[in-house]
Amino acid sequence: MSKKVPIKLRSVQETLLLPLWGRAVETRKRKPLLVDTTAMEIIDTIDYDFTTIATNISLITQLAWIARSLHVDRVVREFLERHPRGTIVNIGCGLDTTYERVDNGSLLWYDLDLPDVIALRRQFVTDGERRRHIASSFLDDAWFAEVKVEDSILFIAAGVFYYFEENQMKHFLSRLAGLFPGGEVFFDAASPLGMRTANKVVIQAGGMDQNSFLKWGIQSAYDIQSWDSRIRVVEEFPMFKGMKRRVSFKEKIGTWMSDVLKIMFMVRLVFQK
Ligand SMILES: C[S@@+](CC[C@H](N)C(=O)[O-])C[C@H]1O[C@@H](n2cnc3c(N)ncnc32)[C@H](O)[C@@H]1O
Repeated sequence: MSKKVPIKLRSVQETLLLPLWGRAVETRKRKPLLVDTTAMEIIDTIDYDFTTIATNISLITQLAWIARSLHVDRVVREFLERHPRGTIVNIGCGLDTTYERVDNGSLLWYDLDLPDVIALRRQFVTDGERRRHIASSFLDDAWFAEVKVEDSILFIAAGVFYYFEENQMKHFLSRLAGLFPGGEVFFDAASPLGMRTANKVVIQAGGMDQNSFLKWGIQSAYDIQSWDSRIRVVEEFPMFKGMKRRVSFKEKIGTWMSDVLKIMFMVRLVFQK
């Protein structure tokens, strides 16, 4: 039997295993809502004990990871319809394979994460003509110069921004607004209640350490507009929007409650020209 790939990730980086596991579990279902065969292969290849995650993570949390991926896929496809040669930067990509699902043959794609994650990722995903990896914190400035924009640009960040302080996010989004007028950002956000809930039922329950706690919660995405006059909210919508028809009765109640309490939601911003 070939040797398994060891996992030596630091706190926040380790959280990438949570949605990765969720996508692998979904893919194995008889009628999956999302298919990510790479996630399945990675889970089978890495040396990590998923027992705590498999035992403690609820069905609703798993569904939230799938809903988020489906929203991201849809928004990227819509963006590519408007900008077939558009650039997409996947911030905090972890071991996600959105590119494989949405590539239109002409986009330009960057998968960005911290150096230890990119080193691990390179064992499963290779660079290509139109797909590059960037090993950097998204909060550093140097990587901006690596990004080429021929048409327009969309930044996606799934399960990333709420690990940072509000001040860090303010500074980052203002920097993007200045550098990429007309650019768009799509990400998931947590309300203050959602943040407390996620720290308990996802981070602690999943066996992650306290350094991976979520730090930034907002009640409404529209609060972000007051940070910088160049930032406009295009839409915010609840995490399980469009999902409720596709799940069991028990899941319907859980997803409905989560949306009513505004636990997690998706946000799309545009930077005014
Ligand atoms: C919960 S995981 C989400 C991974 C991926 N987006 C997904 O949905 O599968 C959070 C990711 O953010 C990354 N991350 C944390 N801090 C970061 C930073 N300062 N710069 C770039 N990525 C970061 C972690 O390494 C990890 O891959």
